[in-house]
Amino acid sequence: MHDVLELESYDSKILVFYVNGKRVEEKDVDPKMTLATYLRDKLKLTGTKIGCNEGGCGACTVMISQIAVETGKIQHFSANACLMPICGVYGKAVTTVEGIGSVAKGRLHPIQERLANAHGSQCGFCTPGFVMAMYSLLRNTPNPTIKQINESLQGNLCRCTGYRPILEAFYSFAIDQESGMVNATPEINGNAEEGACGMGENCCKNEGNRKQKLKLSDLSSCADYTKELQAQELIFPAELKLHNFEKQSFAYEHCHTKWYQPTKYEDLLTLKRVLPHARLISGNSELAIELKFRFIDLPAVINPRQIAELHEKRILENVGVYMGTGMSLSDIDRYMLEVIENQGKEKCGIFEKVHEMLHWFAGIHVRNVASIAGNIATASPISDLNPIWMAANAKIVLDSDARGEQILPIDQNFFLGYRKTVIEADQILKAIIVPFTKPNSYFEAYKQAQRREDDIAIVTGAFYLELDKENIVDVCRISYGGMAPVTKLALKTMEQLKGKKWDKRILEVALNSLNDEMKLPSNVPGGMAQYRLTLAKSFFYKFFLKVSNDLGIVGIDSHQTRIGLDIPEGLIATQVYQEVKEGQKIEDPVGRPIKHVSGDRHTTGEALYLDDIQVPDCLHLAYVMSPISCGTLNSIDYSKALEIDGVIGYIDANDVAKGVKLGHHSDTPIFVADKITYHGQPIAAIYATDHEIARKAASLVKLDISRETPIVTIEDALKADTFVAPHFKIHSSLLENENGNGERKIVDWKIYNRITEGSIEMGGQEHFYLETQQCLVYPNENDELEVIISNQGINDVHIELAKCLSIPQHKIVVKVKRIGGGFGGKESTGAILAVPAAIVARKTGKPAKIKLERFDDMAITGTRHPFRLDYKVAIDENGKFLDMEFTCNANCGHTVDLSMGVMQRAMVHADNVYKFGNADIYGRMCRTNLSSNTAFRGFGGPQGMFGTETMVKHIAEQFDLDIDHLREINFYDEGECTPFGMHLRQCNVRRTWEECRVNSEYDKRKKDVEKYNKENKYRKRGIYLTPTKFGIGFGLKQLNQAGALVMIYTDGSVLVSHAGMEMGQGLHTKMLQVAARCLQIPIEKVHINNSATDKVPNASATAASVGSDMNGLAVQNACEQLNQRLEQFKKANPEGKWEDWVRQAYVDRVSLSATGFGIIHHEPVDFFNGKGAELFGYCVYGTACCEVEIDCLTGDHHLLRTDIVMDIGESLNPAIDIGQIEGAFIQGYGLFTMEEIKIRPDGIRLTRGPGTYKIPSADDAPRHFNVSLLSGSSNKMAIFSSKAVGEPPLFLGSCVFFAIREACRAYRIEELGKHEYFVMNSPATAERIRMACEDGFLTGEMQKSDWTITV
Ligand SMILES: Cc1cc2nc3c(=O)[nH]c(=O)nc-3n(C[C@H](O)[C@H](O)[C@H](O)COP(=O)(O)OP(=O)(O)OC[C@H]3O[C@@H](n4cnc5c(N)ncnc54)[C@H](O)[C@@H]3O)c2cc1C
Ligand code: FES
Ligand code: FES
Repeated sequence: MHDVLELESYDSKILVFYVNGKRVEEKDVDPKMTLATYLRDKLKLTGTKIGCNEGGCGACTVMISQIAVETGKIQHFSANACLMPICGVYGKAVTTVEGIGSVAKGRLHPIQERLANAHGSQCGFCTPGFVMAMYSLLRNTPNPTIKQINESLQGNLCRCTGYRPILEAFYSFAIDQESGMVNATPEINGNAEEGACGMGENCCKNEGNRKQKLKLSDLSSCADYTKELQAQELIFPAELKLHNFEKQSFAYEHCHTKWYQPTKYEDLLTLKRVLPHARLISGNSELAIELKFRFIDLPAVINPRQIAELHEKRILENVGVYMGTGMSLSDIDRYMLEVIENQGKEKCGIFEKVHEMLHWFAGIHVRNVASIAGNIATASPISDLNPIWMAANAKIVLDSDARGEQILPIDQNFFLGYRKTVIEADQILKAIIVPFTKPNSYFEAYKQAQRREDDIAIVTGAFYLELDKENIVDVCRISYGGMAPVTKLALKTMEQLKGKKWDKRILEVALNSLNDEMKLPSNVPGGMAQYRLTLAKSFFYKFFLKVSNDLGIVGIDSHQTRIGLDIPEGLIATQVYQEVKEGQKIEDPVGRPIKHVSGDRHTTGEALYLDDIQVPDCLHLAYVMSPISCGTLNSIDYSKALEIDGVIGYIDANDVAKGVKLGHHSDTPIFVADKITYHGQPIAAIYATDHEIARKAASLVKLDISRETPIVTIEDALKADTFVAPHFKIHSSLLENENGNGERKIVDWKIYNRITEGSIEMGGQEHFYLETQQCLVYPNENDELEVIISNQGINDVHIELAKCLSIPQHKIVVKVKRIGGGFGGKESTGAILAVPAAIVARKTGKPAKIKLERFDDMAITGTRHPFRLDYKVAIDENGKFLDMEFTCNANCGHTVDLSMGVMQRAMVHADNVYKFGNADIYGRMCRTNLSSNTAFRGFGGPQGMFGTETMVKHIAEQFDLDIDHLREINFYDEGECTPFGMHLRQCNVRRTWEECRVNSEYDKRKKDVEKYNKENKYRKRGIYLTPTKFGIGFGLKQLNQAGALVMIYTDGSVLVSHAGMEMGQGLHTKMLQVAARCLQIPIEKVHINNSATDKVPNASATAASVGSDMNGLAVQNACEQLNQRLEQFKKANPEGKWEDWVRQAYVDRVSLSATGFGIIHHEPVDFFNGKGAELFGYCVYGTACCEVEIDCLTGDHHLLRTDIVMDIGESLNPAIDIGQIEGAFIQGYGLFTMEEIKIRPDGIRLTRGPGTYKIPSADDAPRHFNVSLLSGSSNKMAIFSSKAVGEPPLFLGSCVFFAIREACRAYRIEELGKHEYFVMNSPATAERIRMACEDGFLTGEMQKSDWTITV
């Protein structure tokens, strides 16, 4: 026998694998490095993106191909490159996005072509991951079903698009696409084939010979995925096949880590005996997280995946199945289905449930690598599978050299404590034995998570029952995950049920017993004590109904407790817009649905982001961050950090000029000097030769700190009377128009007899841009700095750098190429990164870069402001709104940042679309020990409008009024004035409302919903209409300006630079369209390279939705100047071409570059004295209709259908605008339903990555999704009659919230007789939905948890 510790005794000591068909041989890499880092840093294949480094976003998806050890056949599967250790790809072939198609090489893969043509990318950061997820599916299944496509995208998140176009592109590959895809809604538009309304020429929307289109993209012209194309795909490398790499043992040593990959089972056991503390790596999905975020030491790793014995699977006659732990969860899934098929359903009740549960276990890329062994050994109390194994009485096979094989049941003795099992250090988990089900037995498993797909459970329950012939309980096993520090059997309840007859009486016994046995203390880790207990009981109830229904002993169909039964898998989606006017020149691109200018390159990974720039000799910074939220920093000890190889030095408050702080109000310290004001606050930065070295060193810095009690919530701050700015107010009576006479009206509430008063809370929201914040600084001669940053507000970065480093602005250039999503989160935060990086660059004379890990980004940077909205309103006998008092309380975090602007926008949206009598609106900006909350799409507007819509609903319920009628009689009419003094011109709220009501068939469907709710006890539906109005413009006068620089070169090509950043919203594409129209040249002649402070100075942040409005005007202005200069040459040579005129102008020494300038309307409101003004130039209007279904027993929900009608004037580009509407809607949907920021009472942020913070996934997007642009709307206040679109649709996401609330209300009324108004704060999480469905399963009120606070 060879010495297993001796590396020389292994077949190979060199890491060999293939990437995109090329051989890679590596002798010099840290085995702990992930494949993602290797691809990006070593191979410079930057198409594979990193969005989270924890397997939760899918940006890093690649395809792995290998020879399966057990079958010898080639296998392809998708995987997260960020979880895959580089040594894990020994002998395998990796395909990245670069391997399948390229714009530069003139060949897009059909997946890439269809995705780009369907407008399926915006910022493009998620796009390569989506492409590779789909590619991996097609390599295995060239003709997939919609179901398979849905499953293949389970692990991929997109924050921009709203998923509809991605699904549309990918469903075009589905063999069953015809059944799922509808290209039009004829009932809306009558003559769908013609693409026009049934009224034909007489249609009111057909003005100017414009026709309605019902679909943005037609993919029929895209290349088919033919057999020939399939045959051209990269083949599995012959070398790997010929030399049987899968059978070769491999060992590797580098960076103090030894990697052992034996092929013989006995070697594995020996290794584990001699190295008992070496970690076994199966899928590495758990270990990768420990390595990345806990910096664990890993001196020795054993990878058992090449050992044939661990892949063994077989039927054990009359017992069950035996499955080796080398199988991935996807292998297990396939095997379960095979066994069910061969053995019949009767014996396979447990396998069926394992198969069902696996669908909800992580995403497919994780399941393709993760193992059962890893799941069991990790012993997570919220494991999805362990409760199943326990209830099923599954057994595991352990093996070790010393003790031999041991078979143990997974029962109450197996899990010893939190993440602890009976498995000894020298033992390996060899296999699992899962039993067949007996004839009279029943098995079910349920999981409830915050988000349905790719989310860890809140509670999982599994139930096994054996009844005798008299229906007496012979055996009952009930087990739960999420109810204790370990997976727990409900032993007492099981005992109670044994021997009892299975009838209605047993239910009461079980529920009472579970209530006692599963009770959780209010400070239980994870929080949600009551909800979790309710779930435990509700799950049992579901099981009871299922069994009883099968036995025919209760009258309730168990199907009534399962939501989503009749939800289609396909997509029914229309995008209604107007074609350009007849006669518009073909080369004039304005108004046409042109695809994103970088769309193709997004799909191939050739679109470059900051982190893709290769910088030789670059230093990397990592922050030392505060581990507490409030206290004092006494001292810092860097000694351990400085001992690490590659660490160059550190900077802290001592490197910053005294008193210099960041922010418009100069109140944000660059580094903590003494007072710590939030958890995650930068205290210092380590700089090193490598990002990971810097991070590791930063984790070793020792801090001496004293803790103080933090202020976390709005209530805390109000009590402590602590605010970041003085209070604001608006008094409509101070206006001298129909709202008032210039004198403050003091409302006498006593004169009214119909008053509604209440309060509602709305949580914050993480931006979750897929590309985290990053910045790169190059030092140049004479104090010059070149700064590349992923940021929306380069002017602020410019100013802050100059201020903090005492360098004049003219020596600093700040540039942006593109941003992988911003949503406001990159508006004011740039300097937090840029200033420390610049300090290091100046100190060392080397380029310096800082890149935030997702985990740190979410701690350091702020979020959308959480709000509490207090209201009081009087109505007359007809329901007309009279006086209103409305107070916005915002949780601003530790400094002002943009809170004043956010508060102002919340206040000026507190009317939403309704005319009030007198309105007094107040704003209080609370200071708390949280990171500084900041801009987020909507900028306070959604918070204000949420308060208003809640108030209106409250009125309707309190006085039993029809909510829609109530709203209609209070809508603004043309020309009416808002409380803040703006007169509404072209007020299209009624038009969008009415059109949406008709398009969505709201009135008919409302009746259908009522009928459905009568017929279903535990599933309820809700349908709702929500209108919105959004004012366009910055709140600060000086920000409402933009510049542009247009340069024509002698070859006729045109370079446009403007003040806006491209972050996915398609701004560059629109600006190209504007320039092409203005100069009357084909769009291909115009190019935009980047945005930079040396091209356009003093640029406002790309925010407030006005990017196209302001920059469009500036580009137009510059082009007009150039047109004037070229006019003489056109006249002199009317037959000439553009190039001729340009050339002649050059010869005649006429300048071919011009700067343009644009401003938009603004009048300041005086928020200190409460007097309004014509603040905005115009408003955008829209209405959404949403229908949902909820599971009243668990709080789960499905968004069934969404219809939106949006007034955005004459769209510059319907594809981009509809993309913005869909994306904003889904982001708003996340805000109001599933995105929940959790903070511990001591101010520690708990939600710091995709594992804990859930944004909507593709599965959440409604499969019936219609968006219509209001026709016949124009707008003289913006370029070419268009309107802004980025932020206005976001609030429409609240329509889902209100529809959910309607469904809860139906349950309360119909099942519980509760008619009175109830408060449901936002977001409507599964917990809130379940708790709103107050019933007998719930015990007591929903309490504030001592463990976690939602902000
Ligand atoms: C993005 C993501 C989503 C997730 N979603 C879910 C979810 O929905 N539900 C859920 O339950 N879990 C989920 N998990 C956690 C899940 O438990 C694990 O990721 C997975 O099952 C672990 O398997 P692995 O093979 O990757 O383990 P590894 O990371 O390889 O190992 C984990 C531990 O098990 C030990 N181990 C591995 N193999 C053996 C063996 N043969 N014998 C003894 N010890 C062994 C390792 O030494 C290590 O300590 C998720 C994880 C991620 C990253
Ligand atoms: S970066 Fe790998 S999943 Fe997010
Ligand atoms: S396009 Fe998907 S995250 Fe931006």
